[in-house]
Amino acid sequence: MQAKARAHSNIALIKYWGKRDVRLNIPAVGSISMTLSALWTETEVIFDERLSKDELILDNRRGNVKESKRISAFLDILRQKSGVPLKAKVISINNFPTAAGLASSASGFAALTLAAAKALKLNLSERELSILARRGSGSAARSLFGGFVEMFAGTEPDGSDSFAQPIAAQDHWDVRLLIGITSFRPKKVGSTEGMTRSKKTSPYYQAWIQSQPEDLKEMRQAILQKDFQKVGELTEHSCLKMHALALSSKPGILYWNAITVDAMHAIRELRHSGIQAYFTVDAGPQIKVLCLAEDEVRVRDMLRSINGIERTIVNKLGPAAQILEFDE
Ligand code: PMV
Repeated sequence: MQAKARAHSNIALIKYWGKRDVRLNIPAVGSISMTLSALWTETEVIFDERLSKDELILDNRRGNVKESKRISAFLDILRQKSGVPLKAKVISINNFPTAAGLASSASGFAALTLAAAKALKLNLSERELSILARRGSGSAARSLFGGFVEMFAGTEPDGSDSFAQPIAAQDHWDVRLLIGITSFRPKKVGSTEGMTRSKKTSPYYQAWIQSQPEDLKEMRQAILQKDFQKVGELTEHSCLKMHALALSSKPGILYWNAITVDAMHAIRELRHSGIQAYFTVDAGPQIKVLCLAEDEVRVRDMLRSINGIERTIVNKLGPAAQILEFDE
């Protein structure tokens, strides 16, 4: 009973921040993302009766206690669903730095969901898989699909209507998402902790929840109409709004470093010179720039010219997650 899957990471253009239910990991708002071509996780899951506990190998090292607990708790959901009580060995490799704000949990849990469900021979629909992946990480529910993807917050208490589905396929539009790595250090405040704090303490939380449906609607339309300026403006707006929520929490959460802010200014300057480039930043200091294919080189050169950017990664729209190997 073993299978191997690959899932690509994704970056939210309309961000999710805040949970409706922490235990079931149901987001308080919907989100829209693009799947990334250059960043992925490959995960192999082997259920084995000889194992007395789950084993995790992450990027060629043994998983630490926190990581192992999170994986075991997630596998428990699948064990319960399948009625197969066996422990598993999980071997996972990222082709990018883990926990540096590059959404390794998104691709990681999407790959794990697909591989584990296949190994256990669970015959699940895409929606069911997405709901399962969400239990591991909210953004993972989106990483099962390629292209542009929307995640629904839903209203059901059990989370049965909180899943992701594609808006437009990988070949819909030749856009680029460039990532500038400003630091390889893991983030200080994890997304779950940050979201809980914002919900409890930010005076802007209600406004965030109330204004999200309009952003989602406009983004959906702009993507389908290929209105790049609109997509870019909404992307920057959602990013700054999410960080305003983090910043206005108590104590305030500041994910940016000085290089992140330098890059934001540089991107806006480039825009004033006529290049359509827009930034977004997640729960970490890395800078991400959305642009059209024809501007990729200009944007990459600009990022490389910023002092402190250690590496740039260029993405196109990425594909859906897929099974690589399956062995009964
Ligand atoms: O689901 P998580 O824990 O990966 O949280 C995602 C949070 C953001 O990346 C900041 C926003 C998003 O929608 O991906």
